[in-house]
Amino acid sequence: GAKGAAGPPGTGVHAPSRAAIPARHLRTDRWWLYPATTAAGLFAFVVYSTWRAFANADYYAAPYVSPFYSPCLAENCHPMRGGPNWEVFGSWWGLSPALLILIFPLGFRLTCYYYRKAYYRGFWASPPACAVAEPHKKYTGETRFPLILQNIHRYFFYFAVLVAGILTYDTVLTFRNADYEWGHMGLGTLVFLVNIALIWAYTVSCHSCRHIIGGRLRHFSKHPVRYRLWGWAGKLNARHAALAWASLISVAAADFYVFLLATGVFDDPRFF
Ligand code: FES
Repeated sequence: GAKGAAGPPGTGVHAPSRAAIPARHLRTDRWWLYPATTAAGLFAFVVYSTWRAFANADYYAAPYVSPFYSPCLAENCHPMRGGPNWEVFGSWWGLSPALLILIFPLGFRLTCYYYRKAYYRGFWASPPACAVAEPHKKYTGETRFPLILQNIHRYFFYFAVLVAGILTYDTVLTFRNADYEWGHMGLGTLVFLVNIALIWAYTVSCHSCRHIIGGRLRHFSKHPVRYRLWGWAGKLNARHAALAWASLISVAAADFYVFLLATGVFDDPRFF
C-alpha cells in the first residue's frame, strides 16, 4: 500500500508491488509547464475552430476556400464557381456546412497518438507528466470503453488522406485570380502552400501510416520499396508532435486569412 500518497492502495503506482514513496512525486523541475501550455494551446484552438465552424459565413474569398469548409457538401454553401462545392446535401441542410466535414479531421486528430498524450496530460492529468502519478484512483489506460475506441485511428487515417487530397486540390485552385483565370499568385497562395505541406507532413508522419507502409513485413529485404518508404515515414514520425502543432496552427491561419479577405479587412496582395 502507499503511505501518504494520493489515493487509496490499488492500481498503478499505488499497487502493493510498488515501492511506497510518501512524496507525490520526486521531480524538482517545472514539469507542469508542458501540460499547462499544451492545455492552453489546445483550448485556444478549440475556441477558435468552434467559432469558425459554426459561423457559417466568411469562408470564401475567390479563389480561396477556408480549409474548415472544404469540401463544401451542402446546397447552402457559398456559390463557388470552379470551387469544390459538391451538393451532396440538399436545401434541407440548414446548419453550417463545415459541420459535415470537420468530423473527419477532428476524429483524426482526437485519436492521434500524439494528441492523446497531449490531452491526457493537459486536460485529464492522466498522468500529468513522466514520473508524476496521476490523481485518479484507478488507471485502466485504453483497455476499456470508451478509450478503447481510440483504435479507430487507423481508419481515420484513410479519411485524412482523402481530406489532404481535397485540400491539395484547393491549393492548386489558388493559382488563379479573383476572376478565376489561371497563372496567378497572391499572398494567399503562399499561405495555402505552407498549410498543405504541413498537413501532408503531419498525415504522412502518422504512426498508423508508418505501420501501414512497413508493418507486418517478415523480411524487409523482400520489400525494398516499402522498406525505403517506411524509413522516410519513420524520419517524419520522429517529428510527429511538432508537425501536429505546426499543421494545427497553419490550418487555423489559412482559415483566418480567408476570413480577413472575406470580411474586407484587406485585399490579397497579388504577385502576378
Ligand atoms: Fe498522430 Fe496518426 S498518430 S495522426
